[in-house]
Amino acid sequence: MLNQQSIIGIVGSGAMGSGIAQVAATAGHTTIIFDTNNSALEKAKTNLFNSLNKLVEKQKISEEKAKSISKLTTYTGSMEDLKSCNLIIEAIIENSDVKKNVFKSLESIVDSTCILASNTSSLSITSIAASCQKPERVLGIHFFNPATLMPLVEIIPGVATDNQLALTCKTLIDGWGKITVMAKDTPGFIVNRVARPFYSEALRIYDEQIADISTIDWAMREIGGFKMGPFELMDLIGHDVNYIVTETVWTQFYFDPRFKPSLTQKRLLEANFLGKKSNRGFYDYREGAVLKEAKKDETLGKYIVNRILCMLINEACDTKYLGIASTNDIDLAMTKGVNYPKGLLKWADEKGLENVLNTLNELYEEYQEDRYRACILLKQMVKQNKTFY
Ligand SMILES: NC(=O)c1ccc[n+]([C@@H]2O[C@H](COP(=O)([O-])OP(=O)(O)OC[C@H]3O[C@@H](n4cnc5c(N)ncnc54)[C@H](O)[C@@H]3O)[C@@H](O)[C@H]2O)c1
Repeated sequence: MLNQQSIIGIVGSGAMGSGIAQVAATAGHTTIIFDTNNSALEKAKTNLFNSLNKLVEKQKISEEKAKSISKLTTYTGSMEDLKSCNLIIEAIIENSDVKKNVFKSLESIVDSTCILASNTSSLSITSIAASCQKPERVLGIHFFNPATLMPLVEIIPGVATDNQLALTCKTLIDGWGKITVMAKDTPGFIVNRVARPFYSEALRIYDEQIADISTIDWAMREIGGFKMGPFELMDLIGHDVNYIVTETVWTQFYFDPRFKPSLTQKRLLEANFLGKKSNRGFYDYREGAVLKEAKKDETLGKYIVNRILCMLINEACDTKYLGIASTNDIDLAMTKGVNYPKGLLKWADEKGLENVLNTLNELYEEYQEDRYRACILLKQMVKQNKTFY
């Protein structure tokens, strides 16, 4: 159904849409980008030009390849121009009603075989699909930012999606050099759900004054082996994005205390201390600002890493237990989508599932909070002396 000749439509020429378009055109597809905002289209055009020039300079692609990518990419302010597309990936504002209207309009333009996908990070694919006359042709295709560099793509069939169609899209995007994983349509899919404790447990440790932000970041980097600590990463992502994802996942999971956001982060957002982009977040990026030194205490560092890691593993276990994704896909998602040093389920095997369960049980005992309840699968596996791999 989809092949090298398939025409790819992109709705929304912002950060994600323009990146996805570049990936599709690089794979040799005629790619049509539609946006209602003319200046966004102009910006996307300039960005592609600059990005291709850089790639040529760095000898990552030839001049001919750059020319062919440019030639394959067209920009339009008219949705009608997407008429001939075989696959359309929507990457507009994260608003359910606006997305549903776009999908309805697209359906009235394209032919009956065109596949319609959303790049949404947090909205229900099933609900977007339900606004269409043919919900079986609608799915989630979730790229990570920047789409040109991040290898992971989550493929998310909604309740009514034709499974074969989801597999066809998976094969196509594998052919674009991406690493695809399948995820059930649940809040945060894989990555944005499993990664929540990386931020929220670090915030909890900070809120309880067990350690300061520099110490937690130091521990997660130096002892945990993560590329960035939670606070520097939240500052980089921006609290407007990171806090909202946490709050959305928490709300959509009916306020499960496991996903409860931190008031500290909310106050940063309210203060417009959005992180690096506004020069202030958890850290102060203004000139002359003094960075508080980490307390490089090995025992404290190990406690921090073990606590956050066990909470991450617990979330990965639940994702497996609830059939949201396979063991392999969960580990791939976290290593390829957010650069974790190891897959969490592999890490769980290495740490020993019993040790992970003991840490969670100790936290549960101490706090008497549902937030620290161990996943049933973890308990069962410990009882049966099983491992993930
Ligand atoms: N930015 C990220 O890190 C990231 C990562 C993964 C997924 N996403 C998701 O991708 C989508 C797009 O995010 P983004 O960061 O690229 O947003 P963005 O704000 O950079 O770009 C959105 C673009 O959509 C256009 N647009 C808005 N309404 C439109 C409409 N009705 N028709 C056509 N164009 C319209 C806007 O003019 C804008 O150019 C969102 O659903 C977001 O949740 C974002």
